[in-house]
Amino acid sequence: MVSNPVLQVIRQRCSVRAYSPDLVDADTIRTLLDAATRAPTAMHSEPWVFAVVQDIARLHRYSEMAKAGWRGREFATALLRTDFNIFYGASTLIVIAARPSGPFAVADCWLAAENLMLAATAMGLGTCCVGSAIDALSTPAVREELHIAQSLTVVAAIIVGRPAEPCLPASRKPAEVVSWIQPQGEGGTS
Ligand SMILES: Cc1cc2nc3c(=O)[nH]c(=O)nc-3n(C[C@H](O)[C@H](O)[C@H](O)COP(=O)(O)O)c2cc1C
Repeated sequence: MVSNPVLQVIRQRCSVRAYSPDLVDADTIRTLLDAATRAPTAMHSEPWVFAVVQDIARLHRYSEMAKAGWRGREFATALLRTDFNIFYGASTLIVIAARPSGPFAVADCWLAAENLMLAATAMGLGTCCVGSAIDALSTPAVREELHIAQSLTVVAAIIVGRPAEPCLPASRKPAEVVSWIQPQGEGGTS
């Protein structure tokens, strides 16, 4: 078990797929957004913009839009028969979009996303990236609602909320190190 608090949070984070309906308060959201913007950013371009959605009815609508795009796809047949919500009942969705600032704009946004998720974990909140929302969130209609201009790339959709049940971190394979070049003369490999 690691004792460093940052490493503990990294180990603790897991994708939460059941939320209590409580709303995450505005100060907490601002803290999470501030953590997101502390991410490294190529050429200091800070290409990220954020849209925060805390309206359950609208989240339900976006979930239905996303599911409509799955019709005819084998993996979705069972899910489409249920009232499955792609946002798992979370009351907050944070969308991160990238301004067209160069080749690393999307990478910057993902770094911001991870900062946000780790900060949320540290504050006792659950998160989950919802990639299946991206197509629906990228439609002109939703962009207009969320003030995300067509020139921006919708990168990440992250739900945030109070976990309804404990979440156990998923296991990981050990890091596969394909090379580790050590200083010459110290028995290193090349
Ligand atoms: C780009 C991306 C897209 C994802 N999309 C979804 C999704 O649409 N629905 C979902 O339930 N989880 C989604 N996840 C969460 C992954 O399933 C999860 O991170 C993975 O299973 C590892 O589990 P962990 O996050 O608990 O460690 C996504 C994760 C990433 C990084």
